[in-house]
Amino acid sequence: MDVEVLGRVLSTLPDDDDHPYRSGPWRPQAVERSAVGLEVVGELPADLDGVYLRNTENPVHPAITNYHPFDGDALVHLVGFRDGEAFYRNRFVRTDGFRAEQEAGRSLWAGLAEKPESALRPDGWGARGRMKDASSTDIVVHAGVALTSFYQCGELYRLDPMTLDDLGKSTWHGDFPAMGVSAHPKVVEGTGEMLFFNYGTEAPYLNYGVIDADNRLVHQTPVELPGPRLPHDMAYTENYAILNDCPLFWDPEALRHGKYAARYHRDMPMRLGVIPRKGTEVRWFEADTTYVLHWTNAYEDGDEIVLDGFFQGSPDGRGAPFGGDQRYARMFRMLSFDAMQTRLHRWRLNLATGQVKEERLSESVTEFGMINPGFAAKPYRYVYASTGAPGWFLFDGLVRHDLRTGAEDGYRYGPGVFGSEAAFAPRAGARDEDDGYLITMTTDMAEDRSECLVFDAARVGDGPVARVALPERVSSGTHSTWAAGESLPGWRAGAELP
Ligand SMILES: [Fe+2]
Repeated sequence: MDVEVLGRVLSTLPDDDDHPYRSGPWRPQAVERSAVGLEVVGELPADLDGVYLRNTENPVHPAITNYHPFDGDALVHLVGFRDGEAFYRNRFVRTDGFRAEQEAGRSLWAGLAEKPESALRPDGWGARGRMKDASSTDIVVHAGVALTSFYQCGELYRLDPMTLDDLGKSTWHGDFPAMGVSAHPKVVEGTGEMLFFNYGTEAPYLNYGVIDADNRLVHQTPVELPGPRLPHDMAYTENYAILNDCPLFWDPEALRHGKYAARYHRDMPMRLGVIPRKGTEVRWFEADTTYVLHWTNAYEDGDEIVLDGFFQGSPDGRGAPFGGDQRYARMFRMLSFDAMQTRLHRWRLNLATGQVKEERLSESVTEFGMINPGFAAKPYRYVYASTGAPGWFLFDGLVRHDLRTGAEDGYRYGPGVFGSEAAFAPRAGARDEDDGYLITMTTDMAEDRSECLVFDAARVGDGPVARVALPERVSSGTHSTWAAGESLPGWRAGAELP
C-alpha cells in the first residue's frame, strides 16, 4: 500500500476521550490520506468499476456541553475500484461551520442534545436553528458531482466523486433555498433529476421540489402541515413523490417556550402525502402510528402505490437499554435498531379508494436498506439491509431480504466488527436485480483496522469475495452511495491515481 498523508486538521478532542460516541468504534480521524495499491484478500471482481463513497459524523472538537453522534463534522471516505485494483481517499467536507470552528479552535454551535441558546454564535443552520450544518448525514452523486447533506436541512456541499476535491456549494443558479434542503434528496435514474424536500418551524413547515440535470430548480411547492415536523426521508414512484407527516415531533407546548423536545405522539396516525412529481396537490393517507427513518423503495401497481420502509415499533425507544456508560443512557437509548424495533414494512396506498393496507415484510430487526438503483421506482424483489448491535447505533451484519419469498440471507461481520450502509454496485451489463456487488466499510475493534468488504449480492451469506485493507481504522459511519465509473467525468481521462 502506498499512502500519502495530505495533512491533519485541528482536533481539540482530549486523548483520553471517553464519550461513548467519540471513542471505541467511533474514535474520530483528523488525518487526510490518499492511498493506492491497497492490499486485497480474495479477488476484486474485474467488472467492479467505480467508487464507494461514505459520509461519516467525525467530530474534531468537544461539544459546548453535550455531544450527539449526529453533530460530527463530515468526513467522506472513498474506496475506488478500477482495473482490478483499489484506491482510497478521505477528506473533510470544508463546510462554513467546519472552517469557522477550525479558526476558532472550538465548537461554536449547539448540537442536537444541546439548548440552542448555548451556541456561541447567534447565527447557524438547521430546522431548529443555531446548529452547525455539518453536512455529515448523507451522500449522493447527482450530475457527476458528489453532494453531502445534513438531516436538519443545510447546504449541499459539492465534491469531485473521484478525487473528493472541494467544489463549493450548490447554488442552483441562484435558486438554492435559504432554509437549505434536507438529507436524502433522491437522484432519479434516467431523467437526471433530483427530488428534494426541506422543513422548518414556520408554515407551511414542509416544501418539495425538483431540480434537473443542469441543477436548475424546475419545480417547487409547499406541502402544508399542521405544525413543525421532523421528516428524515422521502420516496418516489414513476409519477409521484411521497412525503410524510410522522407523529414524532417537537412538543408544541415546549416549542412555544423555545424548547426543542422531540416527543412521540402515539395517539396520532402517521400521514403519507402523495404528490405528482411536478404537481402541487397533495393527497394524504392515514396509516398506523409510527416513525419511519428510511424508505427502501416505492412503485405504482394499478391504482395502488406500494411503499416500503422500516416501521418502528417503538419510535422513542422507551425502556430500551443503552450499551454504554449509563450516564448517557437517557440521551442515546433510542439510537439502536433494537430500541426502535425497526422492521421492513409495506404500505399500499389506493389512489382510487383512499384506503391504506399495511403488511409487515419481515420479523427481523433491520434498517438502512439499499436496493439495486436500477430498480428504484419499479417493482423489485431485494432489499439489502443492516442489522444493529444491541444498545448501539452500530451495524453488526448485513441481510439480503427476498421480498418475494420472505427468505433472508445474512452475514455477521464478527465480534467487535461494525459495518456501514452497504451500497449496491450493479455488475456492468447485468439484467438480474441481484447481479452485482454490495460494498461496505468496517471498523474492526478486535484487529484495530478497517476494511472495505465486497460481497456478491446474490450470495451475502457466503461472506465477502474480497476484503480491501484501508490505511487506518476509521470511525463508524452510516450513509453511503455507489457511483459507476462510466457515470463520472474524468474517470478514464484522469488515469493517474491518487
Ligand atoms: Fe438517513
